[in-house]
Formats: sequence, structure tokens, C-alpha cells
Amino acid sequence: MSKCYLTTPIYYVNDRPHIGHCYTTTVGDVAARYQRLFGREVFFLTGTDEHAEKVVTAAQEHGLTPAQWADRNAAEFRAAFALLNISNDDFIRTSQARHIERVLRYIAKLQEHGDVYQGDYTGWYDTSQDEYLTETVAKESGFNSPVTGRPLVKRTEKNYFFKLSAYQDRLRKHIADNPDFIMPEARRNEVIGRLDAEEGLRDIPISRASGGGVGGWGIPMPADPGHRIYVWIDALFNYLSVVDTENRREFWPPSAHFLAKDILWFHAVVWPCMLMALGEPLPRSVYAHAYWVRDGRKMSKSLGNFVDLDVIRGYVARYSRDAFRYFLITHGPLGSTDADFAHAKFVEVYNSELANGIGNATSRVANMIAKYFDGRVPDPAGVERHREHDWPSICRAAVEAAIARADSFDLRGAVDQAVGLVRRVDGYINLTEPFKLAKTIEKNPAAKGELAAILYHCAEALRVASLLFAPVIPDAMGTLWKRWGLAAPDPASGDTLARLAAWGGLKPGTAIDKGEAGLFMRADPAEAAPGPA
Ligand code: MSP
Repeated sequence: MSKCYLTTPIYYVNDRPHIGHCYTTTVGDVAARYQRLFGREVFFLTGTDEHAEKVVTAAQEHGLTPAQWADRNAAEFRAAFALLNISNDDFIRTSQARHIERVLRYIAKLQEHGDVYQGDYTGWYDTSQDEYLTETVAKESGFNSPVTGRPLVKRTEKNYFFKLSAYQDRLRKHIADNPDFIMPEARRNEVIGRLDAEEGLRDIPISRASGGGVGGWGIPMPADPGHRIYVWIDALFNYLSVVDTENRREFWPPSAHFLAKDILWFHAVVWPCMLMALGEPLPRSVYAHAYWVRDGRKMSKSLGNFVDLDVIRGYVARYSRDAFRYFLITHGPLGSTDADFAHAKFVEVYNSELANGIGNATSRVANMIAKYFDGRVPDPAGVERHREHDWPSICRAAVEAAIARADSFDLRGAVDQAVGLVRRVDGYINLTEPFKLAKTIEKNPAAKGELAAILYHCAEALRVASLLFAPVIPDAMGTLWKRWGLAAPDPASGDTLARLAAWGGLKPGTAIDKGEAGLFMRADPAEAAPGPA
């Protein structure tokens, strides 16, 4: 079985999770669920980044140790991901021994190979992001943090350096030769532009003196406890440390690192060069999406307009976790433009695509099967009509398109194939009018066979659609399968999409339960947004 390793950034534990963190992790989750359905063996990783200076500061403000503060917020991240039904295979915390041990080994290896040396470093430091910026970037942003707007600080440190400069030619060539290495294309062009604009990559500090406010927090440099490994270097290694074990090694290299544009440089430039120095194969893709904004403005603490965990809980409680996931995936900033989180839009999408879409179509078909066929899947045998609606081919094309889209991480494109099938089923019902046909059966018994064929095609096409919807809305599709007497796919026993989606999976005679209510109840657009706004 081919292997697929997917990751999200590991999130800083100075604060609680919000929609941005939940978004990238949901993107990773949906990608992972599609890949599992396609029959690949998936390892999906998320977790927390704990050794940042701002974690120490936040802990102090709350009268806790950094470890206590990290424990508390790591638990919040886990809870947020459980709330959203995230199917990660592991959760890494950089404070765990399994990670620390391996980071020490990687750094020692880099030192042995002469890729790490000692020297002085002076540069513009962004304390809000825990990173040094190049002179060019610092100047461009008016010596303020390009992410948070806080003033940059000029710092000089005695440091250990990584020889980034030694790898720039290889990196440039790798980016040029592998169009999918940095996605989407706009981001790739940005990285290439920046690499070309810079006078050449400078070596980067990978440690800092322990006195610098970090206290005892962070991983000490091997054989030099006076220095601690710079949090970004420690963090990037998580992707490798988690699978650097006997039974997970084969997952390397990752199929994709998912992240947002704020941290692309670290992932597309620094990280691959570190991997080259370690002699490791490079990830196949680094996928950097854009940002969620709110009502047209950046989400920030000072504006107090974050879609935070409490707001997310409100949405999940009122509309279901499937609905929240669906909105993130279909209306989120997966491409290169930012996406607005607006309540009215959420309700509109929920009603039109979930309640009036897959929800209504499955109810409508199940109700007709209940009424005209005693709740049993009718037998379409021997009836040929509406040849222009070649349902087996229509479904096959939708499945093939969904696979192609999901493989290139166009998750909305993949789920749109399911939405498209539902629309076609609705259109087919409107065209063939089975409810009118049913009234003619008494006079014309042949109409019964036709009715059976129409409803069978509708139900079977919806079954195929349900498979393509499942990675995004797994709860609702699980409910549907139960009602329709279908087993949930079990990839471990060879249930791949190609096999499951083959026409004819719904067996005539199977009892269909129309359920107490539709899969998604219609929402009232006039109701105020949930949670503290
Ligand atoms: N700890 C580092 C990452 C280390 S990875 C080796 C870090 N953490 S973070 O907590 O700041 O998370 C940043 C990531 O959160 C972004 O790259 C993105 O995945 C997600 N998002 C944070 N805010 C976001 C939005 N407003 N919109 C979409 N995603 C954003 O950086």
C-alpha cells in the first residue's frame, strides 16, 4: 500500500487555539481522509510548539511555569481538534523526550558534518514571531513585524550558525525542477522572487544564549548548555523526529506540509536546506494557504475579532461539527487569497449546500422509496429510459475528478464533485417527476418498473456522492450509511474508493430507513451568530 505522510504546523502554546489553527488542521484532516479512502496508508501529524520565548512570558503572566502553561494549552489544542473530529495519527509536543532526544542527534550530526559553526550574529529580531528577519524584509516592513506590526529589535548574539548559504544553489535547482514543491503557484513565485532578490542566503543562527530571557526553557545545545536551540529549528525537526522510528521510517518523506503563508520561508527554504544537510529526501510539497480574516479585517487580539474556540464551540453546537468543517473547506483560504468569515455567508452555505443539498436530496429519495416501495431499494432491472442520463458514467467521471482534485490538494474541487452529483440528482427528479409517475401506476402497471429505475439511479448516485462527501462531513455520511444499510468504508480491509464507488453498490431489496429528520436541519438566517463575537 503506498504511504502518505501529511503534517500541519505545530502551534505555539502561548495562547489558545482559534480558527486559523483549526483551519490548517482541518485541511490536513480532510486531505488525510481522502487519501485513506483512495487506499493509501496515511500518517497524519499535528501538535504543539512549546519552546518559544512568548510561552515563557505568557506563563509568567499567569503565575505558572512554562511547562504548566504548555500542558494547559496543549490540552486546549487537543480538545479543539477532538471537537472538529480530526483524525490525526499522533500529536507531537516538542517538550516530549522522544522529540528532544532526536533533535539533539540531528544537531550533533550537523555539527559533525561542519554544517553548524559558532559566530556572532547581529540582526533584526521579531520578538512577536520569534524570528530574525533579513535586512531586506526588515526595511520593507518599516522595521516592524510584517505579521503583528510590533517594532523589530536589533540584537547581537554569540550563536551557533547553520550553513544555509551552502545549500542555496541546490535548493534553487530543486524548486525549479519540482513545480509542486511549493504550492500554490503564487506562493512558489513569491519564494523564487525573494530568493532571486536577496544577495544570497545568509547563514542563520540556530541557537541563542540561555540568558536571553528563555531561562531554562528550550533544548540545550549538545555539549554547550549555555546555549539553547532556537525554537524554530527545534520545531521544524518535529516532522522528522516523529517518524524517525523503526516502524514509521517508511513514511518519510512527507507528501505535504500544510501551513499558512506566514511561515512559508521556514518551510520552503530553511527546512529543506537542513534536510539536505542531514542527507534526508525532501518533502514532496509545501502547501501554504492564505488567511482567514473577519469582516474584511485581519483577525487580531487587539481588534478582539478572533473566531476563537468559544465561538467555534457555538457553531458546532448549533450547526454540527460537519457543518463547520464543510464551511472551512469549501469557503476557506486554501488558495492564495484570504477568506472572510462572515456569519451570513456561513448560514447561506449551510442552507443551500447541506440542508437543501445532500440533506434534502437523501430525504426526498428515501421518502419516495418508503412510500412507493415499502422502504426497500427498488430493482432497476430490465428498464431502460433516459439514456441521456448515463448515471454509471456520470458517477465514474465525478469520482475520477474528485481523486485528481484531492491529490493536488484542491479539496473544495474534490467535494464539489459530490455537490455536483446531488444537483444532477435533483435535476433528474424534476425532469422525470417520479411522484407524478407513481399516480399512473394503477392504470399503467409498467410505470412501476420505470419508477423503480428512476429511484434506484437517484439513490445509487447519492450513495456515490456520499463517499466523496465523507472526508468533509464524516458524521452525516455515517448516519446516512447506517440508514441505508451500508457499511462504513474500511480502508484497512481493502475498501478503496475505486471499489466502493463501482456502480451497483446499493443492493435491491435492502431496507432503507428514512430517518426521523433530514441530515441537516434548515437554519434560520435571522438568528444572531453563535458565541461571543
Ligand atoms: N509554531 C509555529 C509553527 C512551527 S511549524 C514547524 C507557528 N505557530 S502558530 O501558532 O503561530 O501557527 C501558525 C499557523 O496557524 C499558520 O501557519 C496557519 O497554519 C495557522 N493560522 C494562524 N492564523 C491564521 C489565519 N488567520 N488564517 C489561516 N490560518 C492561520 O507559527
